[in-house]
Amino acid sequence: MCGIVGAVAQRDVAEILLQGLKRLEYRGYDSSGLVILSDNGELQRIRCVGKVNKLSRAVVESPFLGATGIAHTRWATHGSPTEKNAHPHISNNTIAVVHNGIIENHSILRKKLEEKGYTFTSETDSEVIAHLIHSHLKVQVSLLNAVQKTVKELKGAYGTVVVDKNTPETMIVARSGSPLVIGYGLGENFVASDQIALLPVTRRFAFLEEGDVAEITRHKVLIFNADDNEVTREISESQVNHDAADKGQYKHYMLKEIYEQPIALKHTLDGRLELGKVLDSAFGEKATRIFKKTKHIQIIACGTSYNAAMTARYWFESLAGIACTVEIASEFRYRKSVVNENSLFVTLSQSGETADTLAALHLAKEMGYMNSLTICNVEGSSLVRGSDLVYMMKAGTEIGVASTKAFTVQLAGLLMLVVAIGRHHTISVQQEADIVSALQRLPAKIEQALTMQPAIKLLAEDFADKHHSLFLGRAEQYPIAMEGALKLKEISYIHAEAYAAGELKHGPLALVDADMPVIVIAPNNELLEKLKSNIEEVRARGGLMYVFADKNAQFESDETMKVLEVPACDALLAPIIYTIPLQLLSYYVSLIKGTDIDQPRNLAKSVTVE
Ligand code: F6R
Repeated sequence: MCGIVGAVAQRDVAEILLQGLKRLEYRGYDSSGLVILSDNGELQRIRCVGKVNKLSRAVVESPFLGATGIAHTRWATHGSPTEKNAHPHISNNTIAVVHNGIIENHSILRKKLEEKGYTFTSETDSEVIAHLIHSHLKVQVSLLNAVQKTVKELKGAYGTVVVDKNTPETMIVARSGSPLVIGYGLGENFVASDQIALLPVTRRFAFLEEGDVAEITRHKVLIFNADDNEVTREISESQVNHDAADKGQYKHYMLKEIYEQPIALKHTLDGRLELGKVLDSAFGEKATRIFKKTKHIQIIACGTSYNAAMTARYWFESLAGIACTVEIASEFRYRKSVVNENSLFVTLSQSGETADTLAALHLAKEMGYMNSLTICNVEGSSLVRGSDLVYMMKAGTEIGVASTKAFTVQLAGLLMLVVAIGRHHTISVQQEADIVSALQRLPAKIEQALTMQPAIKLLAEDFADKHHSLFLGRAEQYPIAMEGALKLKEISYIHAEAYAAGELKHGPLALVDADMPVIVIAPNNELLEKLKSNIEEVRARGGLMYVFADKNAQFESDETMKVLEVPACDALLAPIIYTIPLQLLSYYVSLIKGTDIDQPRNLAKSVTVE
């Protein structure tokens, strides 16, 4: 959730650190700070409440010079977002630490350290790391040894970077549960919680594994595993676009990412469909062997990824005739559940670092699931490295906290998975060819859906003064209603609920009146007539409806119902296509309301704490 950047260079690093933080700000944005070691060996620290721009302005006013430094952007977990709780934390004016994650045993450690005479200046769990290292350094021969000793006492998740004013050209970094990547430069080296922070300075990266501790100097990186043995981690060239963190012509990342969907979908399909078939190679070498054996699908995800999984459940059972269960990761990991025979454990995640999803994968391995597969957007992420099969989404970096392109790309990847497994069940050669051809039309169909923008922008004006809203859908459009409601609430702060339209009369109908806009997703499919009856139920209670439907569904606007025409499309693709106007609706409502669209309050991208 928080962002970390560190550098040991042969030039002043303040600008590198600030640029890095700016590129990471989407991960957490309530406060930030940095420490730079001055040439005369002093720890120069500055911390600010608010966004990184505020920190940048403060650094310009009193320039901090020095070639080693660490920086942090925070999303508060322990302690409110105040300057004293912002990182880096310092012990005895000697050790400075930034930390991402949660130290679960911080109260016990804090008590012990206070008994030893350490004074705490923040309410954070992170400060214990600084004092613990300082206390170990009294007996350990090096900062590296002191950090190795410290991490063995920490329970919970951490990605941490440490500097010591007595060894000014060295950073020690440690990873357990929260990702860290080392960036290799020429005569300078870096570390960050996400490679995107370092792309302006290097493209060569090595991802630390769980339990790794590394010593980074200008000319050398030494990595040790959890048993303190020296290890090598592969250095690879990043394929991530350097400009990914640039808004270009768009006012917000979210709008940019909505408009990137046709190209993102093209990238995800490219080279994976051939002669009317989905290529198993899209999922990895062992895919065919595993898919042949698969009898059940268990999907685990959170938030938007969970909504994509819920859509896929309909596809797996209706198209492929294979049982599929879907569960929220934070629920799955803490309940006793039963493993189905030959069950493929599928995780869905944009970031690949979501703590609950990752914990669920670890649990699935202990429980004896047959194999695991992840559909993920971030190369080298923990889910990618921990899964037997991997579908790389290739959606491009997603910066807006509200997930948009990742969702539609996940749906395309899931549809391919349905086919690749389903051909060993009920999907015929002809059906596969039809689905492949529908997928190939998808990018163009999304382009068409994006032309709804002017109509949606107008519609947004009706919504901006509302406090509540209902989203309705049936079958695979029900999870799309869930996604529409999630988008609206997270960026516009308008309370939005989604219901399976058939559930309305079992309770939520009581909420309907003229102040409760009801959004209905009504593609032209076999449930349309049922949905029309649900619409009448709302209409009879004086509800104001906004119906998204294509021409053939034959709805007409009147004083109680506004019809938004969605381009006609294959029933199969409808969940993906109907998502587009809902994304645009939340965007334009939020624009009118003036909320912080890319960085909505209280949220962060990449939820690396549980
Ligand atoms: C909502 C949103 C979140 C994420 C969720 C899971 O717009 O972005 O609900 O979908 O935190 O994140 P990933 O997909 O990275 O596991």
